[in-house]
Amino acid sequence: MLKVRVLGSGAGGGFPQWNCNCDNCTGVRTGSLNAKSRTQSSIAISSDGEEWLLVNASPDIRQQIIDFPALQPARSKRDTGIRAVLLIDSQIDHSTGLILLRENSRPLEVYCTRMVHQDLTTGFPVLNMLEHYCGVVWNEIPINGTSFEIVGIDGLVFTALALTSKAPPYSPHREDPHPGDNIGIHVQDKTTGRSMFYAPGLACIEPHLEPAMHASDLLLVDGTCWTDDEMERRGVGTRRSLTMGHLPQSGTGGMIEALKPFQRQRKVLIHINNTNPMLVEDSPERAELSGVGIEVSHDGMAIEV
Ligand code: MLT
Ligand code: MN
Ligand code: ZN
Repeated sequence: MLKVRVLGSGAGGGFPQWNCNCDNCTGVRTGSLNAKSRTQSSIAISSDGEEWLLVNASPDIRQQIIDFPALQPARSKRDTGIRAVLLIDSQIDHSTGLILLRENSRPLEVYCTRMVHQDLTTGFPVLNMLEHYCGVVWNEIPINGTSFEIVGIDGLVFTALALTSKAPPYSPHREDPHPGDNIGIHVQDKTTGRSMFYAPGLACIEPHLEPAMHASDLLLVDGTCWTDDEMERRGVGTRRSLTMGHLPQSGTGGMIEALKPFQRQRKVLIHINNTNPMLVEDSPERAELSGVGIEVSHDGMAIEV
C-alpha cells in the first residue's frame, strides 16, 4: 500500500518564520491563535513502511527525522530508513536538507531532473559539496512522460510532469525557464493500482496534468497562499503568489475552483506559507475548505492511498 507521511507542511520559512511578526506568526508563537506550527516542505513515501523515499530535503530534516522514527530504524550502528531522495525543484526549502544528510554511509541516491541537477551543481552547488562527504549518485528524472522506478522503493511507479515555472534566483537559467525546473509527480502502487499526484508548487492546472490528476486517488497540491496579494495584505512584502509559481486558493480561477472537477479524489493542501489565513483552524477560510472537502495538511499527517 502507498503510504505518505507529511514531514513538513509549511512553505519556505516554515511557520512561524524566524523573522516574521505577521498576525499568524505572532499568534502561533504566543499561542493566541488556534494554529499548529509547521516545518518546511517535505514528504516521505513508502510501500512497505520500511524503506522510504524522501521527496524534497528541507532544512528542517533533522527534526523531521526525530519526529518520524520510521526514518531511523536502527538496524545497524549507522542506519537510515531514507533509501533515496527525489527533488521536485532546486528551491532552498526543498534541497538544503541534502547537506544535513552528508553523514550517510553510502552515496546518496538523488533523483532529479537535468535542470534541477544543473542548479544544484552551479548556483547552489550542494551536490558538488556532497562529493567531499558521502557522495551522490544522480538518477535523472525523465520529463518526457516515461515512467521510472526507484531502487529500493519496491512496488511504486513514478511519472514526472513538467510544470510551467521559474527556476530559483540563484539558477543560471533563472530568466530562461526550461521544462524540468519544477515537476509534479504521479506515484502509483503497482499492486493496488491506486495513486497520488504531488505538486507543492503549482501555478496553474495545465491541461497536460489533468489525466494524471483524474487518475489519482489523492491530490496533494499547492497550499501556499490564500490570495495573490497575501504578503502585501499582511504587510510583509510585495511578492505575489502567482509570480512565485503558486496558485492562490481563493477567487476566480483559484485552487478551490480548479479542484472542483476532482470530486472522487481526496484533496489535501501542502506547502503552506505562514501568511495564509487557512492556517487558523477556526477561521472562515478553513471552514470554506471543509465545506468543499479540501483538507489542510499538517506535520506528521499520515495518509494511506
Ligand atoms: C517557494 O516555493 O516559492 C519558495 O519556498 C520561496 C522561498 O523559499 O524563498
Ligand atoms: Mn517552496
Ligand atoms: Zn508570518
